Amino acid sequence: HGTMRINQAGHLEIGGCDTVELARQFGTPLYVMDEALLRENCRAYVESFQKHYPNAEVIYASKVFSTMAMCRLVAEEGMGLDVVSGGELYTALASGFPANRIYFHGNNKSPEELEMALEARVGRYVVDNFSELDLLNELARQRKTKAKILIRVSPGIDAHTHHYIKTGMIDSKFGLAIANGQALMGAEKALGMKNLEFKGIHCHIGSQIFDLNSYKEAAATMMAFVKEIKTKTGYACEELNLGGGLGIYYTEGDSPQPIGELVALMTKTVREAATANNLPLPKIIVEPGRSIVGEAGVTLYTVGSVKDIPGIRKYVAVDGGMTDNPRPALYQAKYEAALANKMNVPGEETVSIAGKCCESGDMLIWDIELPPTVPGDILVVTSTGAYNYSMASNYNRNRRPAVVFACGGKAELVVRRESYEDLIRNDLVPERMQNKVA
Ligand code: LLP
Repeated sequence: HGTMRINQAGHLEIGGCDTVELARQFGTPLYVMDEALLRENCRAYVESFQKHYPNAEVIYASKVFSTMAMCRLVAEEGMGLDVVSGGELYTALASGFPANRIYFHGNNKSPEELEMALEARVGRYVVDNFSELDLLNELARQRKTKAKILIRVSPGIDAHTHHYIKTGMIDSKFGLAIANGQALMGAEKALGMKNLEFKGIHCHIGSQIFDLNSYKEAAATMMAFVKEIKTKTGYACEELNLGGGLGIYYTEGDSPQPIGELVALMTKTVREAATANNLPLPKIIVEPGRSIVGEAGVTLYTVGSVKDIPGIRKYVAVDGGMTDNPRPALYQAKYEAALANKMNVPGEETVSIAGKCCESGDMLIWDIELPPTVPGDILVVTSTGAYNYSMASNYNRNRRPAVVFACGGKAELVVRRESYEDLIRNDLVPERMQNKVA
């Protein structure tokens, strides 16, 4: 997939770089991103919209993997950016990302975060609830400006996905539900507010979705709501943001749908609904994350201890784990792996991959077939580009790994490995404890 191949030495190569070399050069654990594949995925979205529905904007959900280099790449590809916190906003602005292409999301933006966004003049606020309507209107009034907003609504679509990440249901901390009339109340309220400019509506029905019909349902439900707003208020939404969520390949059984098909179906549904109801065509916005970066990233680890419990299980422990990839522990997420230095050696034993954290739940993969594995081997776990680096932690005071972008035989460091100094940078010792300890 992407630029991944096996080279003459029998090593895994990404972006023309030998991953065993990368592990030696940058150390492990190491996130390696296939820059060409990142761009290819961005272009698949952008070009599909150009083909089917030019009045559209693709915005990358930066929660999935936010770094300054990634923000630059997204800007270069002509896309917008979804940020959900002061930190993601800060990262985007520091990278030079055009503020007018930034969408500010989140169900509990603080006054400070909203101030920061108003100061930077971000393009859109996706307002989640009534308190935020009041708060943003007031902050915009103080600055004598008008904030352009979308309202997040909950269309009540079940995206048939893992329940932790089902965010489109009626009983949800996100957005205002259409079904109980609160979404309409939100739109009416926004239209009456002096310092808000109501542009349209937003929904996000879930993540890691394989069933494109969920998107069709969501688009149809949202267009029906556009019509309801028009009927009740006279205002026809100019913008319709249909969220992200397209699924990717992690392990056998995952059946990702092509980006082009999602775009074709979505735009067809919106077009038909607009024609049938005599509505103007809204600008369509999508905010994918996982489907852009997920399969473009791998994590390299060095194998440390190998422990065979006769007749029971063989544990292969690596120098990372739930601190760089919390998804198996959090969501029982499944991954595939190989030995980057033994790609042509056939798998012959079933082992389980353990992390190094002090917690029995810190297992990256259960029961996987690998070639005979010894300390020093380089284990590569695939499809780790999404929600890995961005969800990494310092548990056990492990340092967060480095990230490199590999492309055309060159690997560029885009995030340095944390140092031990970084770990104590914000620690303070109260004066009364600073006496010499005997
Ligand atoms: N837009 C909104 C409003 C979202 O909440 C999300 C993801 C996205 C876009 C991007 O969705 P994507 O295209 O990446 O599926 N940490 C979990 C996933 C949480 C999803 C949060 N929202 C995981 O590791 O599976």
